[in-house]
Amino acid sequence: MQTDNECQQMVGSELFAWMRTIRQHLHQNPELAFQEFKTAAYVCEKLSELGIRSQPGMAGTGVLAEIGTAKNDRIVGLRADMDALPIKEKTGLPFASEIAGCMHACGHDGHMAMLLGAAALLGKMDLPGRVRFIFQPAEENGNGAEKMIEEGVADGLDAIFAGHIDTHYPTGSITVDEGIICAYADPFIIRLRGSSGHAARPHEAKDSIVAAAGLITALQSLVSREVDPNHAAVVTIGHVQAGETHNVIAEEAILEGTIRSTHPEARSRLLAGLERMVMGSSSLYAVTADLEFPDFLPAVINSASAAKVARKAAVAVTPEKSVFSQGPSSLGGEDFSFYLQKVNGCLVRFGAHVSADTGPAHSSTFDFDEAVLSTGAAWYARVAMEFLQESVSA
Ligand code: NI
Repeated sequence: MQTDNECQQMVGSELFAWMRTIRQHLHQNPELAFQEFKTAAYVCEKLSELGIRSQPGMAGTGVLAEIGTAKNDRIVGLRADMDALPIKEKTGLPFASEIAGCMHACGHDGHMAMLLGAAALLGKMDLPGRVRFIFQPAEENGNGAEKMIEEGVADGLDAIFAGHIDTHYPTGSITVDEGIICAYADPFIIRLRGSSGHAARPHEAKDSIVAAAGLITALQSLVSREVDPNHAAVVTIGHVQAGETHNVIAEEAILEGTIRSTHPEARSRLLAGLERMVMGSSSLYAVTADLEFPDFLPAVINSASAAKVARKAAVAVTPEKSVFSQGPSSLGGEDFSFYLQKVNGCLVRFGAHVSADTGPAHSSTFDFDEAVLSTGAAWYARVAMEFLQESVSA
C-alpha cells in the first residue's frame, strides 16, 4: 500500500475513486490493437465529463484532446496507450476481463485512467500554454504511435512525456533516466523452402526442418561473436512452424524471432550477421532462404533536457528517495520511441508492486497496485506544468 504522500494529497480521494472506476471498467472491457472502439468512446465520454472536447478516430481508434491557452505558443504532449493483449486472464479479480482471450496485462488500463486523472487536475489549473492528451492505440502490436504521428498528432509539440506502470518497483516510486531506456527491436521472419518427400527417403527431398534446426542453433552465436560484450543484446526465435505429419519431410519452415539491441553498432552487426547466416543456410542445406523485417521499432532515448523536467516533476509528487534510475536499458521495445524521433521527450516508469504472487507484465495473472493511479496522474499533471512554466521563464 502507498503511504500518505504529496501526490495522494494532490489527487485527493474523490479523483482517485474516479480513476479507479475507470481503470476497472477498462480492465473488464479490454480490446486488442486497433480494435479499441469501445475504449475510445469511453475515454471521450470521460473527457466530456471534465468539459474537455475530444477528437476520436485518430489512426483508427486513437483519441486526441487539447486544453490550455495560447499565452505562449508552447504545447506539451502527454501520451497513454490503450490496447490489451491476447491473453486469457486468470487473476480472479472481481473486475477481471469479460472478453474471452483478451486482457489488459500490461497496465494500459491504468495509463488511460491516470492520464484522465491528469486531465482533471490540469483542467483546474491556469495553464501557461497548451497540453495535448494523446490516447494511442496499438502499442503492443502494430506500432500505433507511428500511425498517430502520420496523422499529425505530434505536429507542433515542443515536448512529449509518458509513463509506464512497472511492478518491479514499489508503489510511489518513479524511475527517471536520460538516454536509452528501451531497446531497438527488429522482429524478423525467416522462410526456408526445400522440397517434400517420404520420411524414409530423405535423398529424394530437401528437408527444411533440418535446415531450420541448424540455423536456430547457429543464430545463438550472433550475440556472443558479433556484439561488444559491454552492449546488451539478444536474438530470440519465438515461433517455429514446419511440417504436417511424422512421415513426410517438410517442404517449408517458417521461423519468427526478434533482435533486441541497445547500441546502433550492435544492431547493424546483428542484422548483417543474421542475413549472412540465413543466406548461408541456403547453400549449406540446399534450400531457398528468405528473410523479412516487418516492424522495426527504434530505441526509446530520453533527451537530457526532458529527463530533467521529468525528474523535477517526480521529486515534486513523491519523496526524493523514491525517484531513481532504472539502471541499464531494458531489452523491451516501446513504440513511444517514434515520438522521440520527432520531439524531445521522456518516458518514466511508475512503481506499482503488488506481491510476489502476482504475475509479471504480459502474464495471465498480472495486476498492479491501484495506488499508482495517484502517482501517475500527479506526475503527468506536474510534468506538463513544469515544462510549460520552464518555457515561459526561459
Ligand atoms: Ni505496455
